[in-house]
Amino acid sequence: MIEAEWWDYDDADEMADAVAGDIGFIIESALDARGEALIAVPGGRTPLPIYQRLAKAKLNWKKVTIIPTDDRLVPLSDDRSNVRAIAQAFLPTGARVFPITSDIDDYKLAGNSANAKLNELKFPLDLAWLGVGGDGHTASIFDGPDLDEALNAPKGRHAIGVMPDPMPSDVPVARVTLTRSAILSARTVLITVTGDAKKALLEGAIADGQSSKLPIGRVLAEAEQPIDIHWSA
Ligand code: 6PG
Repeated sequence: MIEAEWWDYDDADEMADAVAGDIGFIIESALDARGEALIAVPGGRTPLPIYQRLAKAKLNWKKVTIIPTDDRLVPLSDDRSNVRAIAQAFLPTGARVFPITSDIDDYKLAGNSANAKLNELKFPLDLAWLGVGGDGHTASIFDGPDLDEALNAPKGRHAIGVMPDPMPSDVPVARVTLTRSAILSARTVLITVTGDAKKALLEGAIADGQSSKLPIGRVLAEAEQPIDIHWSA
């Protein structure tokens, strides 16, 4: 049974203030405990105001490594690149922003390359921060031929390549993504979503758990820790 703790907000700004504060505390706790922090942050639109607020936090950023939970197989110069938005927000803080994409067109090889890069980092993550798509994907764990690999990758297989099927109409490109194993081994798993539709989708996925038809439900079904969910109208 997935244990979800919900925090509701009247608007995105209120959620951004609260979530930036929570993530700042998670980073500070990791720095106090281990002298460094490793966090994974989502792409998309919802996190952007949170990035901006979090980047203002007074932290020892040079000891913080930030990776995308997933990225699109596009050049870093492409504004669809997740690590591009993360770098714009966090490089000025002195944090290390760690891209997981490479200029390999073959998405399976790109997944292997991402995994090799991530093996240079000291997992587990201190934070796996996720968004949820309107189709129930999270990170770039989508429905399609790569879903089982993303869900059943063994510990240590941090990333894989993904060709979403069906391909999202807004960003129709192959991806690399953290696996369920990499996400759920995080010390904290935090989700941010906006709007009634996604709240209902997520509530349903949590209720259905392993039998969920949605990737987010299948990912969370194996969670052993409570999931922090922040939702704004
Ligand atoms: C991506 C994201 C993706 C995102 C959801 C929600 O690369 O698109 O990592 O998983 O979190 O699609 O996106 P919004 O926050 O824009 O709704």
